Amino acid sequence: MSATVVVGGGGSGIGLAAAEAFAAQGDTVWIAGRREGHLRSVAGRLGPAVRPVVADLSTPKGAATVAAALGGCTVDVVIAAAGSTRAGRPRELADVADEWRHDFDNNVLTAVLLVEALRPRLARPGGRVIGISSIGAQLGSGYSGSYGGAKAALHAWVYWLAAELGSDGITANLVLPGYIPDTEFFGERANESFHAERVGRTLLGRAGTSAEVAQTIRFLASPGAGFITGQLLGVNGGTVLGR
Ligand SMILES: NC(=O)c1ccc[n+]([C@@H]2O[C@H](COP(=O)([O-])OP(=O)(O)OC[C@H]3O[C@@H](n4cnc5c(N)ncnc54)[C@H](OP(=O)(O)O)[C@@H]3O)[C@@H](O)[C@H]2O)c1
Repeated sequence: MSATVVVGGGGSGIGLAAAEAFAAQGDTVWIAGRREGHLRSVAGRLGPAVRPVVADLSTPKGAATVAAALGGCTVDVVIAAAGSTRAGRPRELADVADEWRHDFDNNVLTAVLLVEALRPRLARPGGRVIGISSIGAQLGSGYSGSYGGAKAALHAWVYWLAAELGSDGITANLVLPGYIPDTEFFGERANESFHAERVGRTLLGRAGTSAEVAQTIRFLASPGAGFITGQLLGVNGGTVLGR
């Protein structure tokens, strides 16, 4: 049976690859992001089963906009993939504070607010919440430590969420990607030496792809993953082992 899937950050990178994977299996997929023209052209390319909703998910208003766009429909899968960090090492204290607020807003609130907005609509039983953390939460990252710190906050959140939703038969898990360059995430940071250094940290000797992360997300959304909840799943080519 076809499912309803909501992807925060579904207009590019990992979120887009997930949207493509679910649309290809016949699901209805809502993709949320801030860039209207971009989202509309992505949805136009993917076909009528993919519906754009323009929203800044770091705000209560943005998350509520997504819930309103869905009308009364039940949501089978929420993928909270929106996230970003900025390049450049902040020097002034005010800039450090700004960096931490940016990363908290765009990596934590984007997930928490989307899930809270859709929580009453989640399929009971069988709903799935899948958030995207990062290898940066395990290794430490961001130019002021803020990106890894923000992503690590998602870990405690998903443990709590899994406990909250478990009695309704809903699972909540996080995927932790390693280095995935076929995204908009790195921007101009991704030069040759940056790439080589990150590939060199893997055991497989290559970068990952957003399609590989999307397939992991698809697995967590599948009936076969129904007994997996409160887990952190690394997709990192062996850069971090066993946690
Ligand atoms: N690429 C990697 O190597 C890597 C590694 C580990 C973890 N991750 C995580 O993977 C997730 C997906 O990132 P990606 O790598 O696929 O990068 P990406 O291509 O930059 O995708 C991130 C998406 O999030 C959306 N977004 C960001 N802030 C938002 C906000 N406030 N409200 C709504 N949408 C927002 C962006 O769209 P708009 O700009 O249009 O809003 C964009 O489409 C992120 O959580 C990222 O932290 C990535």
